[in-house]
Amino acid sequence: MIWGIELANWNRRKLVVDRADMAPEHRLSRTLGWPHLVALGVGAIVGTGILTLIGVGAAKAGPSVILSFVIAGAICACAALAYAEMATMIPASGSAYTYTYVVIGELVAWIIGWSLILEYSLVVSAVAVGWSGYAAPLLQAWAGVPMAIMQGPELGGIVNLPAIAIIAVVAGLLTLGTKESANLNALLVVVKIVALAVFVAVALPYFQRSNLEPFMPFGFARTTGPDGVERGVMAAAAIIFFAFYGFDAIATAAEETKNPGRDLPIGIVGSMILCILIYMGVAAAAVGALSYTRFSDSPEPLALILRLLGQPGAANYLAASAVVALPTVILAFFYGQSRIFFTMARDGLLPGALATVSKRGTPVRITLFTAVIVGTIAGLFPLAEIAALANAGTLAAFVAVSVCMLIMRVRAPDAVRTFRTPLPWLVGGFAILGCLYLFASLPARTQGYFLLWNVIGLLIYFAFAGRRRVSAGEA
Ligand code: ALA
Repeated sequence: MIWGIELANWNRRKLVVDRADMAPEHRLSRTLGWPHLVALGVGAIVGTGILTLIGVGAAKAGPSVILSFVIAGAICACAALAYAEMATMIPASGSAYTYTYVVIGELVAWIIGWSLILEYSLVVSAVAVGWSGYAAPLLQAWAGVPMAIMQGPELGGIVNLPAIAIIAVVAGLLTLGTKESANLNALLVVVKIVALAVFVAVALPYFQRSNLEPFMPFGFARTTGPDGVERGVMAAAAIIFFAFYGFDAIATAAEETKNPGRDLPIGIVGSMILCILIYMGVAAAAVGALSYTRFSDSPEPLALILRLLGQPGAANYLAASAVVALPTVILAFFYGQSRIFFTMARDGLLPGALATVSKRGTPVRITLFTAVIVGTIAGLFPLAEIAALANAGTLAAFVAVSVCMLIMRVRAPDAVRTFRTPLPWLVGGFAILGCLYLFASLPARTQGYFLLWNVIGLLIYFAFAGRRRVSAGEA
């Protein structure tokens, strides 16, 4: 007890509870194979980052946004390897939160779980806003819906209704059951990849070297201009980072995977590599075809590029594909979000009433609760702000997973590992330092909001979560 605060639990570590020992209402059904996971991964990774934030990144870095993609992708790939190792050692629901609980202890696990709640919620909101950016012009042209109810207040609108509506639809899908949703997801992933391939095929023939000059107009490190806007390759990388994560949503599905030892590494590493290759092509085609200044402010930059190149048919095809397929990202993060809540509630760190599943094996109550919160954020706040804060939460989780991987290499070097990170100290060290550098490159106000979020989290921990009774399965 310090200053009246109960600290007895802070370093308690969780033992992984065997599935057979779980109460039936706390068990998630095992329905997913590796093709589902790769689809879940690509479905979660390719989204608003490449379709919309590429414009924000280009405004911050100019043509060297290509370099921002390479840096963010390399850091994410290293974190993905650490994730794959931890996910196969501890194939339980909860991803970074659960690994930290097992390897480090309850207080750090709470901070990471709390960061993941921020990440997953804000990604759902951000992608819903990105979806709305592509859907609103189509809804206006085809159905005459006024822009004022399709844009948030920052763009002069009242509330972003399409963003709220798409969140409601995805929440409905999730309550129907995981397998049905994952199958639909696989189909939509194909739509999304074909659309990006069409973009590259149409834009690349317009490539001109002169569009890449000057290559790095705002320098490398983050600098803040007189207008208060952060620019530079790293400032762009800190935002573009959003485009790369999503593979961690696969790790949250560990408990529902049929053969986690084989399926998780294939799902995580495979989807990551596929996405890095796709992004390199799209980024080079985008900044090579047109001067970045012509599309960097658009809420639908890739469609705009095609229109400016005199390809309206391809532009409409891309926009329609984005509208149809972007919900896969919302689906994957929504799925991850409800399972983080579920796992934390099952551990007793959040109210136990949240940790019940319906007859179909889906956590309905948490899904609906999440939908209300993320819908409100999507309806009212601007995309770049939401994405930056989501990145802060994700970076914290990536650092934690990489640290856990290294701790386990020291503490249990001979433990069975279905997947081993190659050159663990180099890869893990690069992931940790890279994530810290990306965090330092985020806007200062985002760092402040993240700090505030964690102060609130710690107050809740010491007031409620840390004081709960010790339940089974902890050491
Ligand atoms: N990587 C996901 C996206 O870009 C979050 O939408």
